[in-house]
Amino acid sequence: MNEWEQQNIQHGDDWARKQRKEILNEAFVRQLHKQMFGETWRWAGEFRKSDKNIGIDWFKISIEVKKLLDDVHYQIEHASYAPDELAVRLHHRLVFIHAFPNGNGRHARLMADLLVERLGRPRFSWGSRSLVDDNETRQRYLAALQAADARDYAPLLAFARS
Ligand SMILES: Nc1ncnc2c1ncn2[C@@H]1O[C@H](COP(=O)(O)OP(=O)(O)OP(=O)(O)O)[C@@H](O)[C@H]1O
Ligand SMILES: [Mg+2]
Repeated sequence: MNEWEQQNIQHGDDWARKQRKEILNEAFVRQLHKQMFGETWRWAGEFRKSDKNIGIDWFKISIEVKKLLDDVHYQIEHASYAPDELAVRLHHRLVFIHAFPNGNGRHARLMADLLVERLGRPRFSWGSRSLVDDNETRQRYLAALQAADARDYAPLLAFARS
């Protein structure tokens, strides 16, 4: 990742942490992506309009994001899961949807961090190393996402706090 891109993401991070508004709605999800990547990609903040080899059918993105956010609202209200698990589940479903053409991993990690902070927990460490290079940490991250695909969230929970 180049320095420019990193600065842009840092800007998104700083912006996000100053916000006091609701984060669990489509407008915020898109705004955050734009704040993180707006200087890098013209289309930042816009959902995909074509399919990729990863993610759901592009035309279902908007409805599936809405369903996800509604579910998270419900889970918070009913304390369905502990805060860490709630946020990790949000992360997994967001990257599964893969709403944007690029930047989904970084965006969904920040969304999970913002949610978990608002639930009174420290943000995640996500393996404590760059996930950009194809290193052992990234392999562990991807393996944990695959476990979550099979409804086993324990590896991703452990990874996020490692
Ligand atoms: N098999 C896979 N290979 C790569 N990424 C995957 C896979 N399965 C899920 N993902 C998720 O998709 C993300 C990559 O998507 P995308 O390139 O849109 O995001 P990014 O933020 O640019 O990625 P990166 O994590 O490389 O910084 C990963 O971070 C991960 O969350
Ligand atoms: Mg990418």
